[in-house]
Amino acid sequence: MFSIRIWHWFNFLLIAGLLLTVLLRKTFLSYKTNGLLIQNKLMELNMTISIDDAKNIAKAIRTPMWDWHYYLGFALALFFIYRIFIGFKNLKIDKSFDGIRHATYALFYILLGFMVISGVTLYFVKVEFLKELHEISMFFFVAFIPIHIIGVIVHERKYGNVLSKMIKE
Ligand code: HEM
Ligand code: HEM
Repeated sequence: MFSIRIWHWFNFLLIAGLLLTVLLRKTFLSYKTNGLLIQNKLMELNMTISIDDAKNIAKAIRTPMWDWHYYLGFALALFFIYRIFIGFKNLKIDKSFDGIRHATYALFYILLGFMVISGVTLYFVKVEFLKELHEISMFFFVAFIPIHIIGVIVHERKYGNVLSKMIKE
């Protein structure tokens, strides 16, 4: 199980990092907001710039941050391949509570595979509908993380061994 633990914690850091890059792209480094800001600030200095040019500058400011989406993305792809090599025999899907939990993990792996394949494809070719699917699929991960962590805490309180196992074994 040790190899799954290694995978789990790297995967956790990588997904958290990927989500952070998306958060920054949509907030502090939004090219729309910052484009307007650049335009307004230049206007105060009596300089005029078209909104398209201002947005291009804002995108250039965003680029070094967004490059991390690709570094983390390719690292996630490598860890996914590693996870496939370990195999999925630990998952036992049946009608019991554990079986349902394992089924959500299986769904997680399917969507993770989709994120990796669509992300790597998008890196090389821009396909609009694939980009939209890649973007929408993010919400599965946004939902999975808090549900998973609450589940882990509930399990820990009931049986009290699962968290230390995730570190020790
Ligand atoms: C990005 C965040 C996370 C993701 C995507 C994630 C994903 C997963 C997946 C897919 C599994 C199943 C592994 C397998 O058996 O194949 C798993 C198991 C587990 N995770 Fe996470 N995890 C995340 C964060 C965390 C955090 C923060 C904790 C601790 C607080 C945690 C604790 C656990 C535990 C205890 C298990 C083992 C459950 C068991 O043995 O069946 N996870 N996680
Ligand atoms: C769970 C993992 C991932 C999440 C949650 C995620 C999320 C996102 C989101 C939300 C976008 C749309 C950003 C926007 O247009 O505002 C995006 C775009 C993109 N992602 Fe990911 N992604 C993940 C994994 C990956 C991976 C593994 C790669 C592969 C390197 C990748 C490469 C890309 C590319 C190339 C784009 C298009 C960027 C553009 O056209 O400007 N992503 N991702």
